[in-house]
Amino acid sequence: MSEQLTLALSKGRIFTETLPLLAHAGIEPLDDPDSSRKLILDTNNADVKLVIIRASDVPTYVQYGAADLGVAGKDVLMEHGGEGLYEPLDLCIARCRLMVAGREPWSEQAQRLRIATKYVNSTRRYFAEQGQQVEIIKLYGSMELAPLVGLADLIVDVVDTGNTLKANGLRPLEKIADISSRLVVNKASMKRKHARVQRFIDQLAEAVRQQQEQVA
Ligand code: ATP
Ligand code: PRP
Repeated sequence: MSEQLTLALSKGRIFTETLPLLAHAGIEPLDDPDSSRKLILDTNNADVKLVIIRASDVPTYVQYGAADLGVAGKDVLMEHGGEGLYEPLDLCIARCRLMVAGREPWSEQAQRLRIATKYVNSTRRYFAEQGQQVEIIKLYGSMELAPLVGLADLIVDVVDTGNTLKANGLRPLEKIADISSRLVVNKASMKRKHARVQRFIDQLAEAVRQQQEQVA
């Protein structure tokens, strides 16, 4: 039997959108994380297991080698910092934009702005680059509520269709980054299991290429 590979995924859009890419690499989970309470899923390949964790925990599991590989949004990777990880492949899934949003253009406001976000590090970095002094309020979700109840002037969150902003009377103001999900690899696994990891990367790269060809 070849070497074991453990791949970290989060439930929801990342799992759903990674599934067809894995299928292309001949890997199919034996359980559905939405109906199963299992956190470790076997696949049809005896040497490949999936671990199902929170999206923001994926870089940590891979950094410490608890998973050899993982799929994480670029937003999550920017926030984590990427220590101990290689990022060999853009999977071109779960596309969105990391944005500043609010009721008014932030540049028109004079006072020290309060920004609500779960992306504390990316937000600090972005406003520092703009030479703007801001106060950052850490939240864990539903950022759109913060300006509505006077908790913050602006938010930093991911935006796709813009429907969530619109439904809450907010609008996108500044783009911080284009986001898609990336394959990340533990640096030690990349060395110790090089041939197996590289084969997996190549298979996924081919799957991404074919998927992009179909949408073009
Ligand atoms: P956590 O559970 O750790 O708080 P989460 O709830 O943000 O994470 P998901 O909603 O599954 O997890 O999002 C996973 C990734 O998908 C995000 O990191 C981001 O890159 C991307 N994403 C988030 N929202 C959207 C969206 N509306 N459209 C497209 N991609 C998105
Ligand atoms: C994300 C994000 C926004 C929303 C943006 O939340 O935190 O609230 O998506 O997407 P939109 O611009 O298309 O409205 P969540 O992961 O809860 O999104 P979901 O409910 O769309 O899955």
